[in-house]
Amino acid sequence: MKVTVVGAGNVGATCADVIAQKELCNELVLVDIKPNFAEGKALDIWQTSPINLYDTRVKGSTNDYSKTANSDVVVITSGLPRKPGMSRDDLISTNASIVKSVTENIVKYSPNAIIIIVSNPLDVMTYCAYLTAKIDSSRVFGMAGILDTARYRAFLAEELNCSPKDIQAVLMGGHGDTMVPLPRYTTVGGIPVTELISKEKLDAIIDRTKKGGGEIVNLLGTSAWYAPGAAAAQMVEAIVRDQKRIFPVCALLKGEYGMNDIYLGVPVVLGKNGIEKIIELKLNAEEKQLLEDSAKSVKEVMAVLDGMKLIA
Ligand code: NAI
Ligand code: 2OP
Repeated sequence: MKVTVVGAGNVGATCADVIAQKELCNELVLVDIKPNFAEGKALDIWQTSPINLYDTRVKGSTNDYSKTANSDVVVITSGLPRKPGMSRDDLISTNASIVKSVTENIVKYSPNAIIIIVSNPLDVMTYCAYLTAKIDSSRVFGMAGILDTARYRAFLAEELNCSPKDIQAVLMGGHGDTMVPLPRYTTVGGIPVTELISKEKLDAIIDRTKKGGGEIVNLLGTSAWYAPGAAAAQMVEAIVRDQKRIFPVCALLKGEYGMNDIYLGVPVVLGKNGIEKIIELKLNAEEKQLLEDSAKSVKEVMAVLDGMKLIA
């Protein structure tokens, strides 16, 4: 099994480190455009192997995609992160060009790879990679829902003073402030969360979750990496171990939830073939409206990408 991570920055290097520690593949290639950067990060990660006791061989490359040939899974994290005052959507012009050129190189050397996008604005960068790769949408999708749900679950665990392991939740929609956490599908050890917490407290946690990325940007001056890197690695694990995990993933909708031709966060089954099924929840009227509002804001950013006329 071979995995490539493009972008050896904060998220990419963290993701590679988790993949190596979990021995998700024999060969792990880290690629970056910055000279020697991926080589340095890969060497540092590889030197943890005798300490953390894993065999995954980690190698770095400065933009030489021949080293990535025949990867089974590729994670694309290359691109600018947010700075304070920026929204994820402000990154589109720079990151769309980066995601397009990286995807072209990946598909050239690994035509059968499953591609996971992390670069922001996530939903539209995933759409950009799909248009560029020209492969089935079951093999091109984005990471956001696992991260956003993890934030929601972590905040709930803190409030309820319980283990985050016991909190199960679904969160849908775009990776932005219009994301849609679903309290009706949130349980704590099998108990509906609404039986354990007041509406006011739950609403405050939902609001904090929606702004969870911005909270870290304001604290650090750049965006998060530990949870995003671990979340992307969890998707890699579900694929390479054919786990059939059910996760919220940014997927192309073809009629599901009454929507077409849009990448949006929805629950899916993730296994060796990539997205093996999109699960359609029976949303109530309020939830449907929130999902449609989220789709509307993703469509606005998709229109910016279309206007750039980057992809023929
Ligand atoms: P970073 O700046 O630490 O790393 C980005 C790396 O990409 C840099 O090392 C840079 O040299 C590299 N790069 C730029 N152009 C490239 C190219 N053409 N080919 C190969 N490498 C290239 O940024 P960080 O914090 O790792 O974030 C990466 C991206 O992930 C950002 O767009 C950020 O907004 C996004 N992100 C998405 C999340 C999500 O939930 N989907 C969560 C966190 C970050
Ligand atoms: C995050 O949610 C900024 O997308 C990045 O942390």
